[in-house]
Parts: sequence; structure tokens; C-alpha cells
Amino acid sequence: MSRYRPSTFRIRDHHGVRDEKEEHMNLGQFYKKCVEAGIQADPRGKAGIERYLKAEKKRHEALERFEKENYDHERLTNPYTDVRILHGDGKEPLKGLLVGIDAYQPELMLADMLRNRGEEVSAVLTHHPAGFGIKRLAEVLDVATEQWIALGVPPHIAQNLNEERLEEVVRRFHVANSDAAVDAARLLNMPYMCSHTAADNWVASHLQKKLDAAKPHLISDVLELLYEEPEYRHQARLQAPPMLVTGKKTTRCGRIFVEMTGGVMPKQQAFEELSRYGISTLVVMHMPEEALATVKKASLNVIIAGHMASDTMGMNLMLDKVLPPGDSIKIFECAGFKRFDRRKGRAARSSKKKTAGRARSRKR
Ligand SMILES: [Fe+2]
Repeated sequence: MSRYRPSTFRIRDHHGVRDEKEEHMNLGQFYKKCVEAGIQADPRGKAGIERYLKAEKKRHEALERFEKENYDHERLTNPYTDVRILHGDGKEPLKGLLVGIDAYQPELMLADMLRNRGEEVSAVLTHHPAGFGIKRLAEVLDVATEQWIALGVPPHIAQNLNEERLEEVVRRFHVANSDAAVDAARLLNMPYMCSHTAADNWVASHLQKKLDAAKPHLISDVLELLYEEPEYRHQARLQAPPMLVTGKKTTRCGRIFVEMTGGVMPKQQAFEELSRYGISTLVVMHMPEEALATVKKASLNVIIAGHMASDTMGMNLMLDKVLPPGDSIKIFECAGFKRFDRRKGRAARSSKKKTAGRARSRKR
């Protein structure tokens, strides 16, 4: 592991923009950078986020006294209810981060065991949220509404379908015992954080841009493009490759929609609407059995790219934006997560180019 070089971190929050110099990036700075990274890849764009936060401020002002007392003030600056520090005051310096797709009680205990063996695990980062990070998870469906409108679905249809989905999800998580992992983090005094939509935004926008740019003709071309990503190749080696569940490899793929936002599948009627508005192929993380009949009826081609692989890709792309350069923060991979650092590939490619350029100029 290389030695840490003190760095300056640009922090943007409700106090404005400032540069902070720290011996180690701390959990609070890491959290703020995750939110910033999420906004960078958000389909609503900066203007859309500002509109969303303005509406949230108005909503807060109009709350009744009892509701105001319990209000989560992070919502005024962070548009993602599923990106939160769940335990810790944010001042904890990050030397090592245990990252998992589902990092709950067992992983928190694992982190504590590793600490007792002398490993520097400063905090645990879970992709799928826990505690208050999951209770209002559905509110991030505003992101999906914007994506659908961009695809050509009229706003009233996009909003209605996603709002129905939102209410159902709020009810589903309301009954869950979602604080258990946060309680474990508190008892172990293990700093604990979740980052869900900030990472999902990255995988959705990365794949959508890649597929739009490559203009594949057949479904087999789409599968080949997915296999270029290290996370899908890794999961293929673990016997969970991207899976074509409806359509054939020889089918024309038409217009493709990468639907990977919100952590919950759209209502079944939504598939018919997407087909009606010109979508031929869906690339998703997962799809429930009961939705398969509807997508077949709507003649949609569906590629299940893979849940762990897609979530891992989102986390990797987000971490590339958030982590300081080099390996100053050691990553402990667990619970379905594997680190692929695309910055290293780029750095290697650009230094190769520089070397080749220098060699050419020497020849001249
Ligand atoms: Fe997920």
C-alpha cells in the first residue's frame, strides 16, 4: 500500500464551496463527495436537482410542528434519501473502508474482527441501504420519472406510474426491521454509511451512454458490449453472466433503455408504456418472475445484466470519483463487492501513450 499524501478536498454543501486540507479524508468528506458524485451522473441534471431541493425546502417550511421536530435536515442539501452516514459523526479519518453490496450485521462484525487482527478498517460502506437510509428509499424514484420523460413517455404517465410504485415501496419498507444493522454499528462503535442512488446513477448513465454511442444492431451485440465491463466478466466467471430472458440473440435490439434506478422494478403496466413509446430492449439489474409475462406480452427484449455485477459497477464508478488518487484508502471487498479501479486503467493507458509519444519524438 502506498503512503498517504495529504490532499485537498473540495467540499460543496449548504455553507457554500470550500477546500479542506486533511491528513486523511474523513467519513464526512467522503459522504459529501458521494452525494456530489451522484449529482454528477443524475439524469435530472444540476438544474433538476436544484428544482428538487427547492421544492423540498418549501415542503419543510410547510410541515406541522411534530413533523418538523423529526425532520431529517440532510434532505435540504442531499437529494438522495438513501445516501447517509448511519453511525458516526463524520470526523473519523478513513484509512480503510470495508465495502459490500449488502453490508449488514455480519459484515459489521467482520469489520470489527479484522480491526482486532490489526487491519485498519475505519468504516463500513454498504450499497443497499439500512436504517433511515432505506425508509424513504422510494423517494429517489423522482430520478426514474425524469428518465422516462427523456425517453418520450408523457410526464403525466411517467409521474403517475412512478408515484404508484413509490407508495407501494414506502409501505413495504415501513414494516421492515431496518434499524438492526445500525444498532449493531452503534454497539460495535463502527462508523457506517450507505450509498445507493449515488452509485446506481453511475451504472445507469455509464451503460446508457455506452450503448447509445455504440449503436448495436442485434441483441448479441448488446451482450458483447456488456461483457467489455470487468464486473460482468467477473460475475460470468462466478457463473452469473448477463442473461437474455426474453427475445433472441439474433433479434434486432432497437432502442435500448437501461433501467437500473431506485432499486425496485417498475409497475407491470410501465413495461407496456415503455414499449408503446418506442423502447425495444430493456437492460435491467433484476426482474421478478411475475413481470416476465408482461414484458413478453409487450414484446420487449429483456437482458438481466445481473444484480451484484451492476451494483458493483455503480459503486466502482462512484468510488473512482470519490476516493483520493492512489491507494491511500485501503478497500476491503466483501458481501458481493469487488473493486475494479478504472482510474488505474486510464492512468496506465495515458502513461503508455506518453511513453509512445516520447519514443516517437526521440526517433525524430
Ligand atoms: Fe441493488
